[in-house]
Amino acid sequence: MCGIVGYIGNKNCVPILINGLKRLEYRGYDSAGIGIIENGNSSIIKNKGKVSALEERIHNMNLHAGLGIGHTRWATHGIPNEINAHPHSNSNNTLFLIHNGIIENYQTIKTGLKKLGYHFTSETDSEVLVHLIDSFLVKGYSLCKAVQLALNEVEGTYGIAVIYREEPDKIVVARKGSPLVVGLGENENFIASDVSAILAHTKQVVYLDDGELAVVSKDNFTVKTISDKEIEKEVHEISMSLEEIDKGGFPHFMLKEIMEQPESVRNSMRGRLLIDEGTSKLGGLTEVVDRLVNSKRILISACGTSWHAGLVGEYMLEHIARIPTEVEYASEFRYRNPIIDKDDTVFLISQSGETADTLAALREAKNRGALVLGICNVVGSTIARESTAGVYIHAGPEIGVASTKAFTSQLVVLSLITLLIARKKSLSAPEGREIVKELQALPDKISEILKLNDKIEELANEFKDANNFLYLGRGYNFPVALEGALKLKEISYIHAEGYPAAEMKHGPIALIDENMPVVFIAPKDSTYDKIISNIEEVRARGGKIIAIADDGDGEIDRIVDHVIKIPRTIEMLSPILNSIPLQLLAYHIAVKKGLNVDQPRNLAKSVTVE
Ligand code: M6R
Repeated sequence: MCGIVGYIGNKNCVPILINGLKRLEYRGYDSAGIGIIENGNSSIIKNKGKVSALEERIHNMNLHAGLGIGHTRWATHGIPNEINAHPHSNSNNTLFLIHNGIIENYQTIKTGLKKLGYHFTSETDSEVLVHLIDSFLVKGYSLCKAVQLALNEVEGTYGIAVIYREEPDKIVVARKGSPLVVGLGENENFIASDVSAILAHTKQVVYLDDGELAVVSKDNFTVKTISDKEIEKEVHEISMSLEEIDKGGFPHFMLKEIMEQPESVRNSMRGRLLIDEGTSKLGGLTEVVDRLVNSKRILISACGTSWHAGLVGEYMLEHIARIPTEVEYASEFRYRNPIIDKDDTVFLISQSGETADTLAALREAKNRGALVLGICNVVGSTIARESTAGVYIHAGPEIGVASTKAFTSQLVVLSLITLLIARKKSLSAPEGREIVKELQALPDKISEILKLNDKIEELANEFKDANNFLYLGRGYNFPVALEGALKLKEISYIHAEGYPAAEMKHGPIALIDENMPVVFIAPKDSTYDKIISNIEEVRARGGKIIAIADDGDGEIDRIVDHVIKIPRTIEMLSPILNSIPLQLLAYHIAVKKGLNVDQPRNLAKSVTVE
């Protein structure tokens, strides 16, 4: 969602804020702004559009300040325009605030403030915060106290940063439900919603937890609760490098991240395979492994692509580890009054580790006594920290809004978890060794698939003008069909649906004619004969068929229009390979349509609102 960055120190904060905002643009990008304070002067510059538009605007302004905050917006209340962009300010322009989250009771607060004579300029929920804080400042409270008092009246979620011309030696930040870190430097400090914004300057960070507030000056910081209890915080060292969050010569982050998959998949397995024993070793689960293995039931909760990974996990866990498994959208789970008890294990899958619905599902499951395990990519993220235990996927930073390498790494980690449980239950060592061998072979097989990039690009050329797409798969590859369709729709804006192939005849078959491309995921697995019948059904109705099939499948060519042949693996791991051509197809179609692949319209990388 929105991105937040702030600086206090002896340097000019303006380029630091702009560069930080560029790093954060993947979180939200309909408008951007900065607010700076220097020598008793305070100014806000904000713009509709991308950070580059803001940068251009301030290029000749010769701005200089040692204190400032910046924001990229992903609109929730009010259209993307200059007025609704952050920072928001009080009426005399002395108090600036940036906000990520949603203030649920903003209308009530606004009505109260209007009665006190406050005037609102924007349509946002965030603007109430700045006036509410101001209403305490005018009563003589300090900035820190005014923020605390204001937040006591607020319902909803927030990560906020506030600066005040009358107290120019500090930034006050607070969080509830939206991430915030404080970055520590020498005679300078930083605040951000995401470490990538400040990684160029420091690797020492302090993560704020919900209900905490920090007062950050250039050479100190203190953390307390909103209700004023002092807290000792641990300083963490970030291991991520700046190069890892650059495009590295690729035209888009998405393509870079697709191409990184041999390495990211290898990293997800590194040090975790016990070859002779035919099992896996997951340090993050050591303390809870007995409880996990003896779970009566596993629930997996997630959103979007991570939910698709969870669906594949369900097939793995039931098929190989023989534990009843259910998968549910986090947004439904949290409001459903789910039946969960202490014999259940609930996995929360999240690339960002900050998705609001997934975090709420985690808290619900924890409250009900289940074992709560996180599968996250972002180290130190809220879901990772609030889980009882968990496994990092180690895919490396994923910046493109469309999730690619995180998906394949989530599947690798789910297969490692499955293997761990299965070997402690009924899977034999030779069977375990077979899975380990196939896991080890994945990076090379992915490299082979990536060599098909040009061929897939040609295919994209042929299908870029289609208005609809259908993706069909069965068994382990039904979730891959869902994921292929999601990839296409989110970056190319082509309507696409994923279905279990057999369900087609219960409705979607009515859509099929010569204008409907149908992508079949058709590996030679236990469902192959059935899927061939489904292909025939589409062929009989004139649909254009693209198949993802195994190398060496000589039969399929004669019944499909196009086939992408990829290396074979065992059934449980085939979604990892089959998803990659679909990522490339979506990518090339979007590029050929001239769309912004890394920052598709209306989407944000990290969905920190409900
Ligand atoms: O960070 P998370 O994995 O929790 O994010 C969940 C979804 O928002 C995310 O997968 C989304 O669907 C992506 N845009 C998919 O490409």
